[in-house]
Amino acid sequence: MHMDDHDDGQDPKEKINYKAAFRLLYGLVKTRKRPFLVAFVYMSAATLLNLLIPIIAKYVIDTALPAKDPRALLLATGVYLATTLLFLYFNYLQVLQLARAGQGLIVELKHRILAHMLTLDLEFYAATPVGRLNARVQSDTSTLYALFTNTVITIVNDLMMFAVVFFVMAYYNLKLTLMLVPMFPVLAGIGWVFVKVTSPMFVRVRKIAAEVPGFLTEQLNGVGVLQAFGREADTSLKMEALNQKKFTAEINVELYTVVFFLSIVFLHPAATAAVFYIGGQMTLEGRLTVGVIVMFILYLGYLFEPIFRFSEHLSIIQRSFSAGHRIAKILELRPTLTEPDKPRFMNTVRDSIEFRNVWMRYKEEAGWVLKDVSFKLPRGRSLAILGETGGGKTTVTSLLFRFYDFQKGHIEIDGTDIRKLSLGSLRSAIGLVQQDIYLFPGTVMDNLKLMDTSIPDSRVHDAIRLMGIEAFFKKHPLDKKVKEKGANLSIGEKQVISLARAMVLDQEVLVLDEATSNMDPHTERLITTAIKNLLRHKTVIIIAHRLSTVRNADRVMMISGGEVKELGTHDELLALGGLYSKYYRLQFGEGE
Ligand SMILES: Nc1ncnc2c1ncn2[C@@H]1O[C@H](COP(=O)(O)OP(=O)(O)O)[C@@H](O)[C@H]1O
Ligand SMILES: [Mg+2]
Repeated sequence: MHMDDHDDGQDPKEKINYKAAFRLLYGLVKTRKRPFLVAFVYMSAATLLNLLIPIIAKYVIDTALPAKDPRALLLATGVYLATTLLFLYFNYLQVLQLARAGQGLIVELKHRILAHMLTLDLEFYAATPVGRLNARVQSDTSTLYALFTNTVITIVNDLMMFAVVFFVMAYYNLKLTLMLVPMFPVLAGIGWVFVKVTSPMFVRVRKIAAEVPGFLTEQLNGVGVLQAFGREADTSLKMEALNQKKFTAEINVELYTVVFFLSIVFLHPAATAAVFYIGGQMTLEGRLTVGVIVMFILYLGYLFEPIFRFSEHLSIIQRSFSAGHRIAKILELRPTLTEPDKPRFMNTVRDSIEFRNVWMRYKEEAGWVLKDVSFKLPRGRSLAILGETGGGKTTVTSLLFRFYDFQKGHIEIDGTDIRKLSLGSLRSAIGLVQQDIYLFPGTVMDNLKLMDTSIPDSRVHDAIRLMGIEAFFKKHPLDKKVKEKGANLSIGEKQVISLARAMVLDQEVLVLDEATSNMDPHTERLITTAIKNLLRHKTVIIIAHRLSTVRNADRVMMISGGEVKELGTHDELLALGGLYSKYYRLQFGEGE
């Protein structure tokens, strides 16, 4: 169990690279300055209109009412209503504008992340859980969406509003305004303590919050095992403990947040009281009008509004920088296997595939996995690779696809170094049928075409006929729905489908990596016929343990410990009396 392997994908102690995160965020906005600027203008207009309202109130109280002038009153009411309507209109424009700009930005970002991820090496995917990548694309980008559509612009706007309100207040009464100033150091102090105390708490909550779904995914993925071993209660207990931990952490943070809010909330009535009392006294002394007191009270509400919003902004900014940091980290990754500078394109193998003295290791510090491997596979012929688990069979084929690069030797297709070939054209010329088969949600037909709708149905029917497996597809009709991960098919059935898929996709070269290792005798018989037919039409490398399959190949290569031990036809190797013949006797010892 990887309790530490939380989906956040980030060590809480890991230093956030603010510069890289900022560069990413700024880069996204840079090309969209205009739409964001327009949104800002709308927002400022709305705010300024809103700021007029206390002034209108003052006008009513200090001018219109004392003058007993119904027309001035009517005018004030009209201006008030118009101001409010305009305020709403600008608000509407601003929300719409921001949503449009923000969505555009997020769509671009998601596209960039996805397109980038798809280029990364298999090594990256082996090391990174899918859930984590999903979180990068989904939740990290929506955090950034909140940042761009709300936080940034609101903060700038709030600062501006603060300044304007202060200026207006000072204009009407400097003394009363200055009296409010001591409130700010107190506010700043409370804010500082709050951030200091709660930051580590928030990190902890996020970490635990990410652990819960991680744990759940793991356990539910393995629910079959859990039930078989009767460990459901155990898991349930662990889940409860984890949830309890989350509960405690959340409550702690909530406690501090509430205390923080209440102390700020209290500052508001305190300031109001000061205005009432001191402003009131000034009014009694005839130095201040009633209208100004009302205006001040209204403006105080305006001043506190952004302060309440502050902690929300803070958390979004903090989360946005972590999100930006994580996204930037992925975008910085470079695939080690890239298209060559001047790639040569290939459609098909015209002559042969050749390995010459190939040496390969996965890591510098690890040992050689392939040692001096050589073989030649002419077009239209087949090679079976046999050997113990971990012997290096899959590695041989991975090199052919350039999933990894080798350190010494040569791999050539039609005499061209595969490192000079376009990766895309190389990989589309070779088909792969693997041991663990992934089927996509859709119909059997969709999967046979690998979701390529341009392939005509007739090609699918032809392929099935060529392989002689019509009977199988009677039982599993082409319009049958494949559930997620092909859960409604057995492994053997999935293997049949993926073999047929290789035929449908019409690639000249096929690599079958233990593609027939999970079949019941009936399906196996079916597939042996299918493979026999495949071998007749394609250039095939087939990794298999079953000699019934191997025997159909033109040549057999025995690999052990990364070395080619024997290479020749079935008959030659049998006659050699070495590894292969021993292997053969083991499997067919009891006659066949
Ligand atoms: N991606 C990888 N990273 C590091 N080592 C690997 C990787 N894949 C395979 N190996 C190692 O290389 C050796 C050969 O593996 P593989 O080619 O998969 O064997 P086979 O297919 O014959 O069972 C094994 O020791 C295996 O542990
Ligand atoms: Mg293997």
